[in-house]
Amino acid sequence: MKKQHMFSPGPKSKAVIARDHKVIAQCMTREHPFVYERAKGVHVWDADGAEYLDFMAGVAVQSVGHDNPEVVRAIDAQLRKGLHCGFSDVYAEVPVKFAETLVSMLPRGLNSVFLSNSGTESVEAAYKLARYCKNKKWTIAFIHAFHGRTMGALSMTNSKPVQRERYGPFLPVKHVPYPYWYRMKMEPSECSDYCLNEMEKAMRGVKGDLASVFIEPVQGEGGYVVPPKEFIPGVRKLCDEHNALLCDDEVQAGCFRTGKFLAIENFGVKPDVVSISKAIGGGIPLGATVASRKLTGKWKHGSHANTFGGNLLACAGGIASLHFMKRERLGENAVRVGKFMMKRLAEMEVEHEMIGDVRGLGLMIGVEIVKSKSTRTPDWGKCHAILHNSLKRGLLLIPAGQSTIRICPPLTMTEEQAEKGLDILEEAVRKTGR
Ligand SMILES: Cc1ncc(COP(=O)(O)O)c(C=O)c1O
Repeated sequence: MKKQHMFSPGPKSKAVIARDHKVIAQCMTREHPFVYERAKGVHVWDADGAEYLDFMAGVAVQSVGHDNPEVVRAIDAQLRKGLHCGFSDVYAEVPVKFAETLVSMLPRGLNSVFLSNSGTESVEAAYKLARYCKNKKWTIAFIHAFHGRTMGALSMTNSKPVQRERYGPFLPVKHVPYPYWYRMKMEPSECSDYCLNEMEKAMRGVKGDLASVFIEPVQGEGGYVVPPKEFIPGVRKLCDEHNALLCDDEVQAGCFRTGKFLAIENFGVKPDVVSISKAIGGGIPLGATVASRKLTGKWKHGSHANTFGGNLLACAGGIASLHFMKRERLGENAVRVGKFMMKRLAEMEVEHEMIGDVRGLGLMIGVEIVKSKSTRTPDWGKCHAILHNSLKRGLLLIPAGQSTIRICPPLTMTEEQAEKGLDILEEAVRKTGR
């Protein structure tokens, strides 16, 4: 079925889209016929010069704001010294400095870094590390999880059927329910118990051949689902009992988006392996997999490597981004502005029948659109219409899950800017409701 876009792009945007369709593989979702031209801070301009407030941040990447001057300066300075060194074969200080900075922001003991270029690769490395160290076959992952698109990561991804269709057979992964209590129509603690129970059954089922459990502490692509507070500690306990490594996918939720540097820290849990990407490069592709030196020390020389990991430009951008996030206390801002947004969205939830649930941590907020509050049936048509009605009014938003509006703005956003965006969103909801 062809998508009906209500947002109509201008002539320059239309021309780019026509050229895109001729030379770019059309396997991506492309929610909007929106053509990016330039961006600054929390604003983006399209090819026809129209300005938008950005609630998507290049899919949770531009946490330090678009075109951040400190990041640009650091990249510019590195440009003049060299772009790439071949870090898998020689040494260089810039990637070391990036790893030192990252480790200084992580819980104690997560102190050895493998560098890569994307979220998927940072997950793939964690998957391989777990299988290698444990010398065991099985992994547990969650229903509606998204961990990336290479075959290891995709074997754990379970967010949308189209992402897996025709790609099997997959690696040995068992999927168990994630406590999406709103959709499962359960109380949070009841749902947590149910999911932990299912997880334990799956762990027993693999008869001692379990290497790892992969989890997003807040599910991202699956619909911005925040688990009940007791769930993640329960997962940690089961991992310990079953001798499995707890692999924490922080690609979307990490880097202060939920207030803490790692989202899993909100639940008082320390993982064995962390995958991190998106925001750490300030807009440059960069991924990192972090574990203890004891764990990564089991890898033999040559057992995992890549060409572009440790790329000098990416690491220079990464150092500047991490420094900026820390100095400007973006985690505290995410909590403050996130609370402000949640309060206003909760008021909207009361007023509008189509808003079934509002949930979030920091500036990772989901607004689930349903046919009615009593049935909780997802309404993708209305969700899509709200996104396009927002875009028409100058607010850039994307969806997650079946029918959730995903709010993941730059972490530099002020309450005033957030309020302006929510005014637009509410107007779009009203318009859609008619
Ligand atoms: C939690 C999570 N893991 C992994 C990935 C894959 O990252 P990338 O698209 O950079 O490969 C994503 C992407 O959205 C993600 O949200």
